[in-house]
Amino acid sequence: MRHLLKTTALLATFGPRAFAAPEIVLADFEKSTYEPWSVTGEAFGPGPAQGALPGQMGVDGFHGKGLVNTFSNGDDTTGTLTSPEFRIERKFIGFLLGGGKNEQALALQLLVDGKVVRSATGTNNQPGGSETLQQDSWDVSDLAGKKAVLKIVDDAKGGWGHLTVDHIVQTDTRPKGMVSGAERSFAATTRYLNIPIKNGAPKRVVTLLVDGKPVVRNDIELADGAADWWAPMDVSEWKGKKLTLRVDKLHEDSKALVAIDPANEIKNSDNLYEEPLRGQFHFSPKRGWNNDPNGMVFYNGEYHLFFQHNPYGWGWGNMHWGHAVSKDLVHWEELSPKLLPDDMGPMFSGGAVVDWKNTSGFGKDGKPPMVLFYTASGNPTVQGMAYSNDGRHFTKYEGNPILKEITPGNRDPKVVWHEPTKQWVMLLWVEVDRANTMQFFTSPNLKEWTFASRTDGFFECPEFFEAPMEGDESNKKWVLMGASSDYRIGSFDGKTFTPETPMLPGQRGKDFYAAQAFTNEPDGRHILIGWWRTETRGMPFNQSMSIPLDLHLIKTAEGPRMTFTPVKELEVLRAKSHRIQPLSLKPGDKNPLDEIRAELVEVRAEFEPGDADEVVFNIRDAMVIYDAKKQELSVNGHRAPAPLIDGKQRLTIFCDRIGIEAFASDGLCFLPLPFNTKGENRRLYLETRGGEAKITSLEVHELCSAWKKK
Ligand code: FRU
Repeated sequence: MRHLLKTTALLATFGPRAFAAPEIVLADFEKSTYEPWSVTGEAFGPGPAQGALPGQMGVDGFHGKGLVNTFSNGDDTTGTLTSPEFRIERKFIGFLLGGGKNEQALALQLLVDGKVVRSATGTNNQPGGSETLQQDSWDVSDLAGKKAVLKIVDDAKGGWGHLTVDHIVQTDTRPKGMVSGAERSFAATTRYLNIPIKNGAPKRVVTLLVDGKPVVRNDIELADGAADWWAPMDVSEWKGKKLTLRVDKLHEDSKALVAIDPANEIKNSDNLYEEPLRGQFHFSPKRGWNNDPNGMVFYNGEYHLFFQHNPYGWGWGNMHWGHAVSKDLVHWEELSPKLLPDDMGPMFSGGAVVDWKNTSGFGKDGKPPMVLFYTASGNPTVQGMAYSNDGRHFTKYEGNPILKEITPGNRDPKVVWHEPTKQWVMLLWVEVDRANTMQFFTSPNLKEWTFASRTDGFFECPEFFEAPMEGDESNKKWVLMGASSDYRIGSFDGKTFTPETPMLPGQRGKDFYAAQAFTNEPDGRHILIGWWRTETRGMPFNQSMSIPLDLHLIKTAEGPRMTFTPVKELEVLRAKSHRIQPLSLKPGDKNPLDEIRAELVEVRAEFEPGDADEVVFNIRDAMVIYDAKKQELSVNGHRAPAPLIDGKQRLTIFCDRIGIEAFASDGLCFLPLPFNTKGENRRLYLETRGGEAKITSLEVHELCSAWKKK
């Protein structure tokens, strides 16, 4: 389908030559029929259209009065329109093209000997967009003298399922405008190809070819001129090979391809990890977008955190699995992305296990493999698996998919080992007749899966683990959680989950989502990390992860509950600690935190509210208020229940540049709230309102950054 333009196609000048041969018009569609072209199907109507057809937005940018418009009777009609044979006699074929973008199903094609040698599609693939035809062209100098045919194909239904075409010419002077299939090649000698990004620019389909073979395609907002930021494409895997970046469509004046900068460093990254809105102890990717944590597993002495990653955009898209490792859950090193979109689709969320008994046979030299499970979100949407023997190199299983589509969009496999029945268990979110179901499958070897049961009421990103009730180690329960982090506690026999609680609220804040817990944690802990949706405008990256949270099951008067507390490892961040003597605090008293200035903070306070209505912390402009009468915690106005325990409240507050995570009631209340702190105000404030409270313990820790500076 695709063709090769010379590396220099976009760079060279094809200015008018002194003796350029005159243009040959192949078709202008100005007559009432398509004669002598031949038509099949319904999409093309009885003859050329005169602009927009009924139900279509205004169409412009075409030549003269008539054009090809495959919107005849709407988007769902299909068909083809084929030209008579002609001889290629000029260097370029120019044309005007618009409508839907779908390389397979909506195309203007050039065929030689029955084979497609050039192909171009429209510009729109989402609601909205524009019906303006744009100038486009192919360099056909390598086909000089050949006999060819033009074919317009509309095989698309639904939104933007149509194409518009006009004014097809042969010319020796490249028409000004868009260029289809422009390329630039590189010898792979550097770690990165730095790609210029302009947020909001039209998305171009950029295909990476390695030694001529397409390896991955991404939709990229290429900067035609000045870049907002540079996205590093990690090409270290292909050292010594020939790399080619091919762009579906680019304006001939675009500087995007010329600007791509092969280097071992990320371009403009002198302030990496010091950017004004970079979370200093929250993981975020160096560049681009992250959402869900994926594949969280402890393997070979390291915590592995994979994540939903768009390496080439500030917003969601191009789902890769990004990859970072840590020895202590605090200091993370980001490695190259591991699972790249492939023919089965982009790589959506999933989990990971260590296959200790090598049930899969992927192990090597007596060492157990790490196995990743993901959703390939194409059409159909299927589940796949990849494995690694070193935590660095990953191979997608050749027998993929391991689970076929059950219903469209089914996703987010989470796999756990069930010791009593000695089998693997997979949970998958499946929508059935509009109901959210979690479906359980079992497998002896990770490769073949059998449906076991289903439970309803949970949406996406299942998390499922077994933990003891605190103080009663032999009493183990299973926790099932969906992406919202709401959960139920119950029992599990290897096939069926039997809930013993109603749905209980998980996090009580905002924008904490799709959390996952590590499998194979060496201390047997259940450590959860969530996607923390703090927007970081103006930065070359966006979103982050929460701090790691230790999960426990406790008994309460209302029944079993889960608690969320910051992992103890975070203590390594404490750079300077202030311990304030116990005190009674009444309205109008001096601020006990008056002396402290801190950018990154951990506050730990224990108090008895006494007759105070409120105990109020102001941390770098964020208001954290304990309402003693209602027994509620609020962070910047966002409220959640936080009962006193034995008459006391214990608060833990972490504040980073991107928000606050507050914990109350010994972890029964976890309230994360994203916001962008302002650099200037580093003050902390504590007061009581309405009466006197007894502050029995108060510590403020100034924290250091978790990032290693370059
Ligand atoms: C949750 C989610 C998942 C999906 C992923 C795609 O945030 O919608 O269900 O796998 O994001 O990025």
